[in-house]
Amino acid sequence: MKAGFALIAAAVTFGTALVSATGARGSSAQTPPQPTPAAAPAEARPAPPPEFVKVCVKCHPVEKIIEGRRYKTQWDQVLEQMVARGAIATDQELDVIFDFLVANYGRVAINTAPADEIAEVLHVEPNVAAAIVQQRASTGRIGDLEALKAVPGVPGAALEKLRDAIVF
Ligand code: HEC
Repeated sequence: MKAGFALIAAAVTFGTALVSATGARGSSAQTPPQPTPAAAPAEARPAPPPEFVKVCVKCHPVEKIIEGRRYKTQWDQVLEQMVARGAIATDQELDVIFDFLVANYGRVAINTAPADEIAEVLHVEPNVAAAIVQQRASTGRIGDLEALKAVPGVPGAALEKLRDAIVF
């Protein structure tokens, strides 16, 4: 999958996609978000949507974007910064890009994140995310991966692969 990703990224450098301008997303961020190291292997992830290729690889290589996982709020800040730096995209395109980045390069604080964010980043069903939230409420805290895997319905093997996306 990594090769395909690079291929798409390379292909777009020959393109001249132009789209209408857009406004900012959400509130403004003063400090640049810090990427977290050690993203999971790229081959575990799907190819990026065309919106991402069209909008995001004009100014820097894909590797710059996906060098680390980020919290949902951090991805929101990144997109806002990129628009401020001249990235041109519609709100709809930014939404698609945002969802792609959160789902594939997201990071989630398992003890504080809302259920929908847990579901998005860890690719679990809403009822499983709800069970995780319920578990942390009843036990106070989910301390480690083993405790998380013990929550009913949690796909243990899948979450082991997403270990770097989970902050306890
Ligand atoms: C108009 C040019 C431009 C476009 C288009 C663009 N960026 Fe950037 N991006 C920059 C600049 C300038 C920097 C900062 C300098 C650098 O690190 O290369 C940057 C840096 C980044 C960083 C590193 C930020 C950090 O704090 O470490 C990320 C992540 C990123 N861009 C993501 C994206 C995404 C996602 C898109 C598509 C929505 C995008 N960029 C589109 C210009 C652009």
